[in-house]
Amino acid sequence: MEELKQAILNKGVVVSNGVLKVDTFLNHQIDPILIAQMGQEFVKRFNGKEITKILTIESSGIAPAFTTALELGIPFVFARKKKSLTLSSNLLSAKVHSFTKNETNEITVSKDFILEDDKILIIDDFLANGEAALGLASLVEQANATVVGIGIVIEKSFQPGREKLEQAGYQVESLARLASLENNTVRFLEEVAT
Ligand code: G4P
Ligand code: NA
Ligand code: NA
Repeated sequence: MEELKQAILNKGVVVSNGVLKVDTFLNHQIDPILIAQMGQEFVKRFNGKEITKILTIESSGIAPAFTTALELGIPFVFARKKKSLTLSSNLLSAKVHSFTKNETNEITVSKDFILEDDKILIIDDFLANGEAALGLASLVEQANATVVGIGIVIEKSFQPGREKLEQAGYQVESLARLASLENNTVRFLEEVAT
């Protein structure tokens, strides 16, 4: 997605150990026009698939999940990382290990919001090791619902996330694919392949 690549090049900052900071438009401040374009692009990528609901995880998945859901006219649900006071039983849950943060969190979603006949598109902001996306897919599988696919805003293609998701049988569509962040430089996958 060209607008996203330009935003990454113009506003992204490569911080140490292969991490891209995009706090000006995705992870802290939000660019609503760009996020709306992401929603339109996800709808194009999964064109022809029947989708009844979007599933994401708080916090940074919420904005692109919202615009995709709005585009489709369907609800979106965000999994929580911390148990809410009013939501203590009747939960689907999965353990998600973050290699980046070296911690394991339990993610949860109410059983009321993922039903057996749901066809779910998973959306998230970053794909690194794939643990968050696999955790979300696990919530869907536990509910005996269907994962239609996984839409990612920024894929770090030098990490194993995509491979793990594809091995599990899921269609992955990423709006930008990073081949490398070495030498404080963003290189997209296409530039390397050709
Ligand atoms: P994984 O789910 O693919 O295995 O990823 P990992 O554990 O490595 O990532 C943990 C958190 O760090 C996630 O956000 C993920 O989106 C984010 N992350 C991973 N790599 C990058 C990167 O290069 N740049 C940025 N900006 N974020 C990255 P989170 O903790 O769930 O936070 P949030 O959703 O509240 O933002
Ligand atoms: Na994030
Ligand atoms: Na995220």
